[in-house]
Amino acid sequence: MNRQRRRPAYLSLLLLTLQIHATLSFATAAAAAQNISKAGQDRNQPACKGETSTSLDAMSGRGRSASEIGRLEELKKQEAKLARQLAVLRKEKLSALRSRPLTIGVVGFGRFGQFIARTFAKHGRVVVTSRSDYTDIANGMGVTYVPLSDPEAFLEEGLDVIVLAVSILSFDSTVQKLAPQIQKYLDEKASQGGLLRGPLVVDVLSVKEHPRQTLLDLLPPECDILCTHPMFGPDSGKNGWHGLTFVYERTRIDNVLMDPSHETSFHHFTDAGSSDSDADGSFVELGSGTVHDVHENSEAHVEGMDRMERFLSIWEEEGCRMVPLSCADHDEYAANSQFITHLMGRILGSQGLRKTPIDTKGFESVMKLIGNTMADSFDLFYGLYKYNKNSAETIRQLQSALSDVVVQLEEMEKQEQESK
Ligand SMILES: NC(=O)c1ccc[n+]([C@@H]2O[C@H](COP(=O)([O-])OP(=O)(O)OC[C@H]3O[C@@H](n4cnc5c(N)ncnc54)[C@H](OP(=O)(O)O)[C@@H]3O)[C@@H](O)[C@H]2O)c1
Repeated sequence: MNRQRRRPAYLSLLLLTLQIHATLSFATAAAAAQNISKAGQDRNQPACKGETSTSLDAMSGRGRSASEIGRLEELKKQEAKLARQLAVLRKEKLSALRSRPLTIGVVGFGRFGQFIARTFAKHGRVVVTSRSDYTDIANGMGVTYVPLSDPEAFLEEGLDVIVLAVSILSFDSTVQKLAPQIQKYLDEKASQGGLLRGPLVVDVLSVKEHPRQTLLDLLPPECDILCTHPMFGPDSGKNGWHGLTFVYERTRIDNVLMDPSHETSFHHFTDAGSSDSDADGSFVELGSGTVHDVHENSEAHVEGMDRMERFLSIWEEEGCRMVPLSCADHDEYAANSQFITHLMGRILGSQGLRKTPIDTKGFESVMKLIGNTMADSFDLFYGLYKYNKNSAETIRQLQSALSDVVVQLEEMEKQEQESK
């Protein structure tokens, strides 16, 4: 256990961010305390003729003492200094990332695989593989295409990361075929006295519990696992990924299973809405069930973490809103947000709605919803239903809500007729 080793740039960045959060919280608390105490004093004073000072004045800072103002200025200076340090650290992080670009393999070069590969190509070397022949599209994008029927050639590209972007329905069979190939590749390398680590395997499926379990069940233990769901696609992300949500769960590193209930983020500074400042990730070791802390782990664990962070940093650098979330929580939320969106789009789409010369803004949104959801494959829609255990309940609730609304309409009509 080496506690003296150099701290990776992202950890320094995290600590600095926490410092800034702490300073800002302190500044806010101090200012609020000053205002509350001032307001309290004002309330306790008997109202004098001509007195204009109120608690609102206190809140707005009017009538503060010179020392109070001096303290606030001091805190602002500290804040500006930390912001400058953060900017320098971010630059350092970016150049560290660019100096060690990842080689990323993408399995499944369909609509979504092409969409992400195009952006990955800005950050590293990209090798893609798929059932269909996508040589021309890959060449046009400046990435290497290898047929899915030749997994040896794909793995021989020396991949740091393999991103699985196949359909939800074919995910299981794809991993069933790929996993033994990875094992064979690792065995061969080990017999030559090389490589002990497998690639980091990442999924991008729109459901999360299913791929998580499949990867844990089938992949060799040498492979780290990251389960992700970019909550956007070729339509919503056509003008860039800035501000779009990226959900992820660090699932396994160096054969240590991460406890999803402790999933925390090194990226929370990009998530303006999050107040989560718990930087320590806890891990449960497979088999023994021992709980570990990230800092007490081996060099291999730190290397695995570093590679995962470098991959996550691509999304972060593209401006995504990074949201760490357990796969189970993702599926619960997604059934009532993403699945219901697709369901409504499909229902409205199958009604055969058309544009009219008098379309309202609301109807234009409906047509946009239909267009976006129908552009995705039916396999994707079916996958959202079949592999999220919460989706059937969402359909049931929708049916029940539709019946309730129809009953309300019919009852009102009945009352109207009775009152005539
Ligand atoms: N579309 C989005 O907005 C979006 C957003 C976030 C995540 N995702 C996820 O990204 C993945 C891909 O989505 P998609 O939009 O590209 O459409 P999709 O219909 O879900 O998947 C198409 C991809 O799956 C591959 N595939 C299909 N059946 C296969 C089989 N039996 N064996 C091997 N490969 C097979 C296709 O390969 P070939 O083209 O070579 O046939 C193609 O690469 C899905 O898991 C989806 O949940 C999509």
